Amino acid sequence: MADRDKIDINYLYGKKEEGEKISWLTAYDYPMARYEEEAGIEMILVGDSGGMTQLGYDSTLPVTMDEMTMMTKAVTRATETTFVVGDMPYMSYQPDKSEAIRNAGRFMGECGTDAIKLEGGRRMAPTVEAIVDAGIPVVGHIGMTPQSAAQLGGYKSQGRDAETASELIADAKALEDAGAFAILLEAVPTRVAELIYRESEALVFGIGAGEHVDGQLLIAHDILGLFELFKPRFVKRYAELGREVVDAVARFKEEVKKGEFPGPDHSYGMPDEEYEKLT
Ligand code: KIV
Repeated sequence: MADRDKIDINYLYGKKEEGEKISWLTAYDYPMARYEEEAGIEMILVGDSGGMTQLGYDSTLPVTMDEMTMMTKAVTRATETTFVVGDMPYMSYQPDKSEAIRNAGRFMGECGTDAIKLEGGRRMAPTVEAIVDAGIPVVGHIGMTPQSAAQLGGYKSQGRDAETASELIADAKALEDAGAFAILLEAVPTRVAELIYRESEALVFGIGAGEHVDGQLLIAHDILGLFELFKPRFVKRYAELGREVVDAVARFKEEVKKGEFPGPDHSYGMPDEEYEKLT
């Protein structure tokens, strides 16, 4: 476990003030969250991307609150000091504000998260305000928002012309005015992210938004090579664990077939005199 105090919002704002970048990764289960905390990661997002990386859905849309709470509780059980953000799944906050507050409250109360994240800019600002009024810290996620991929015409970078970039800037402002303590920009040009960062008092994080932000988020399965169906441009691979799993499993199979496993090191002995009583 990381040797530090529990990370809270003041710590995160402190890093912004000092100009020190904040590290943020997804996790959806107990072992990964423990490894990330041991490595010193500062924030964990229990993302609805877990529906794809863990549960095998082909988008994030089928993910339910019950699935999110199961994954989130495993992560908060594993972490003592990391700042954990729960991701509101599709249709857990869009229908109306009271449902949004109730579901955000489940992340905080039932799962023990430190904040929640939801997708959407200006049109979600009233919902963000209602959740913040209920005492819950909110991260607003704009840019390429996977829950709206159908409306955005697929998983494409956003804000690449002046008109759509101005809309993103207005979305970020609306989220900040609604009380979001942080804004996450996904797949937007570095220059647009920098403009938003310069204008924001809220924390600004990027996943594919370049370097001029307060911190960087990536999906753990992407950086570790545990999700190979597609790889967005902004992903950097730090390991190929999926390939290592395939190699290790294939070696195990071969040793079983050849009778090489188990050998004496992995078997239990019995004293001769005890064995003789049986034969
Ligand atoms: O679910 C998730 O992991 C996310 C990131 C892609 C930002 O929302």
